[in-house]
Amino acid sequence: MNLEQGAQRANPLTRIIDAALQRDGGWLPFDRFMALALYAPGLGYYANASRKFGRMPSSGSDFVTAPELTPLFGRALAVQVAEALEKTGTDEVWEFGAGSGALALQLLDALGDRVARYRIVDLSGTLRERQQQTLAKHAAKVEWLSELPESMNGVVVGNEVLDAMPVQLLARSGGQWFERGVVAQGDGFAWSDRPTDLRPPVEIEGEHDYLTEIHPQAEAFIATLADRLGRGAAFFFDYGFPESEYYHPQRHMGTVMCHRGHQADGDPLSDVGEKDITAHVNFTGVALAGQNAGLEVLGYCNQARFLLNAGILPMMEQATLAERSMAARLIHEHEMGELFKVVGFAAGEPWDAIGFAEGDRSHTL
Ligand SMILES: C[S@@+](CC[C@H](N)C(=O)[O-])C[C@H]1O[C@@H](n2cnc3c(N)ncnc32)[C@H](O)[C@@H]1O
Repeated sequence: MNLEQGAQRANPLTRIIDAALQRDGGWLPFDRFMALALYAPGLGYYANASRKFGRMPSSGSDFVTAPELTPLFGRALAVQVAEALEKTGTDEVWEFGAGSGALALQLLDALGDRVARYRIVDLSGTLRERQQQTLAKHAAKVEWLSELPESMNGVVVGNEVLDAMPVQLLARSGGQWFERGVVAQGDGFAWSDRPTDLRPPVEIEGEHDYLTEIHPQAEAFIATLADRLGRGAAFFFDYGFPESEYYHPQRHMGTVMCHRGHQADGDPLSDVGEKDITAHVNFTGVALAGQNAGLEVLGYCNQARFLLNAGILPMMEQATLAERSMAARLIHEHEMGELFKVVGFAAGEPWDAIGFAEGDRSHTL
């Protein structure tokens, strides 16, 4: 064993994954591997003390999200949240996966007395500490939960939370479907495929080799939310596509990506716990999961459309040049404007939500 191999084996997260592999007969489905790599207590990427979110690699961060880029994201979203609070007669905001607390701060600043309580549900204990610091001036209104309560009312928001939920990998090879999982190999991990009855939600045209994901956890999350949200609305932002694009025959390498130091790579099996692992969101699956569990789809559109509908342009006109150029990245097609989408749900009677006033693409789901 060389020194590097010894160091890898000494990594406590690798040992936890090794133990899970042994318990499961030497093979872990990718969703279990991803769950441990991201959320193993104290060690997984979202559970450890690394910085994660920030504008530049020099801050020690790995990637930037919309609320980290500019407060205008939260200010524009606040217009939609204010409308939703009024239409649903509620006064609580629920945020899932609140990261550094940046969006919570932007929403609380913009919404003022219209919010009586701001509740954050996050799996990550270390992020909770960071959120507490960011939100110190709103401390009296903010509450943290580590899981969904049995029942809730209010307006739910989540930015880039669905893409952080573990996915299962399906690989078609030689015309046969396999579930792709992980085995131990040498000092690290390797891929290993097993025959499966699982299939993508739509037929993939052609016979060529094809790798993709299915998203049972994200869909179960939406279904549980639907069950528990008595009165209110929910808005989720993320990168992804409707089913017909997600499972397009040409998208044959899947969408799993890792982020570290503002660089993307496609190898989740290396440097486990030190980088983010994500997959794009199948918005058709999310919308169906919500609808089947009793929610109404308020709309679905790209992020640019949603933010423009919510009035980000006049906000940009008031902003400094530097702020304006950051906000422009949220709406430019070749940056976050088109790849990122928004889906909105109502629990109870639907209404015409301002964010989807123009450019609603629900018909493409
Ligand atoms: C990519 S980060 C996004 C953070 C933040 N929303 C932002 O935009 O900067 C994903 C976040 O989702 C959280 N998360 C993942 N699954 C979750 C779940 N089931 N419930 C609540 N939070 C979750 C992670 O702990 C992490 O804080």
